[in-house]
Amino acid sequence: MSEQEAVANNAVEEPKTEKAENAVEETKEVKENGTGEVEPVAETEKEAPKEMRAVVLTGFGGLKSVKILKKPEPSVNEGEVLIRVKACGLNFQDLMVRQGAIDSPPKCPFILGFECAGEIEQVGEGVEDFAIGDQVVALPEYRAWAELVSVPAKYVYKLPKDVSHLDAVTITMNYTVAYILLFELSGLTQGKSILVHSVGGGVGQAIVQLAKTVPDVTIFGVCSKGKHEALKTAESPIDHLLERGSDYASEIRKVSPDGVDIVLDCLCGEECNKGYTLLKPMGRYILYGSSNVVTGETKSFFSAARSWWQVDKISPLKLFDENRTLSGFNLRRLMYQQHGDEYVKQTVQKVFSLFQEKKIKPLLDSTWALEDVAEAMQKMHDRKNVGKVILDPSLEPKPKPATPAKGKNKEDKKKQSSEEKKEPEEKKEENAKEEKKEEPVVNGDSAGDSPDSKKEASS
Ligand SMILES: NC(=O)c1ccc[n+]([C@@H]2O[C@H](COP(=O)([O-])OP(=O)(O)OC[C@H]3O[C@@H](n4cnc5c(N)ncnc54)[C@H](OP(=O)(O)O)[C@@H]3O)[C@@H](O)[C@H]2O)c1
Repeated sequence: MSEQEAVANNAVEEPKTEKAENAVEETKEVKENGTGEVEPVAETEKEAPKEMRAVVLTGFGGLKSVKILKKPEPSVNEGEVLIRVKACGLNFQDLMVRQGAIDSPPKCPFILGFECAGEIEQVGEGVEDFAIGDQVVALPEYRAWAELVSVPAKYVYKLPKDVSHLDAVTITMNYTVAYILLFELSGLTQGKSILVHSVGGGVGQAIVQLAKTVPDVTIFGVCSKGKHEALKTAESPIDHLLERGSDYASEIRKVSPDGVDIVLDCLCGEECNKGYTLLKPMGRYILYGSSNVVTGETKSFFSAARSWWQVDKISPLKLFDENRTLSGFNLRRLMYQQHGDEYVKQTVQKVFSLFQEKKIKPLLDSTWALEDVAEAMQKMHDRKNVGKVILDPSLEPKPKPATPAKGKNKEDKKKQSSEEKKEPEEKKEENAKEEKKEEPVVNGDSAGDSPDSKKEASS
């Protein structure tokens, strides 16, 4: 069974907690001791808490730690709204959270996800801007990938009429980040040139579209070769499409010997130095991600350390002499730790306006059922997504290839071994001789392997 199947098959009930088991015991006791005439104590008649499906991270690491579990429906606290989730955004950050490769993650188990859209079902005390039935998108700190989520109202944004839930999770996180990078931090103006890494992804495509709302901007976009055709087909307005892993700095210098005005780096590590060196005088370099830290399926301390060591430590004096600017941007920290929620809310409104004016057209890669989250994450990890990846709780999971029933397997094995025992010794010897005669020899080895394993070995 593949790892993704294992995760999908994990759509199971959570084991009962000790408290829940005691509650069941108590109920049993009252009923058993009752006379049948007296009504059981009201408490024993209490309805079981309603449950919902959620994508839960049970431990930091690989895809096996991502499980679809039944969790109690959340209640609404003061200042919060309860959202019935219709679509969730998958972001690269979720891969890093799964690995435990981000700063101060919560303790496992917890519900994953930072982006969802849906309808408000309840409004907590003190919330004035929202009403039941409002269509919204939210950027909660975790817990977004569930059928229901309670979110502080300050992280929730009302959807304009013509913005669907799907549009909302394709736009909100990616275009808000891209907007801040381009128009707040880079000071993008007419005629400037930009280097964009991971240009085929969610944020990458948002940067390209927003940048092209400014006249005469030149975009150098770097991404995996496998995405180039799809980006051309999608008519993504990237002026110079370059291959990840190539000597892209030399390629850029061939077109623009002085370098570029703006570098937007979400990779970190050695890309920092290359990007800084490519800056023209008055150029700006912004670090907004560290994707290079992700190597295998689980967190690598070596990659994290290497990424840190590879970055040149630049003195302000050097910046002064070279007329260059360095910045950094981290939406998660700005919103949840640095009280930037109002600033972000205003930016979200600007992005929605651009969408309504049809100045941006989000690129959707694929939509997945909650149960298929592992496959969706794997696609992003394999660098195969072109645009945004979305989870839709209303979707049916993909049918999984049938695996032989366990019981039957055991039966077959039992039967086989008892037949083997029955087989007379001389017949065994005869069979062995026959088999030896028929066995072809491949590359000097005895070809006793299955045809499949031969195929794998030769490929
Ligand atoms: N600072 C912030 O507030 C903020 C907010 C959102 C996102 N981000 C950052 O923006 C970047 C893009 O995020 P996204 O959510 O839009 O994801 P995305 O670009 O849609 O998908 C991930 C893409 O990243 C590239 N990539 C680079 N290194 C990779 C690695 N080690 N393993 C797998 N893929 C790798 C791959 O494309 P190629 O192979 O084509 O490069 C992959 O397809 C990420 O670095 C993310 O952390 C930052």
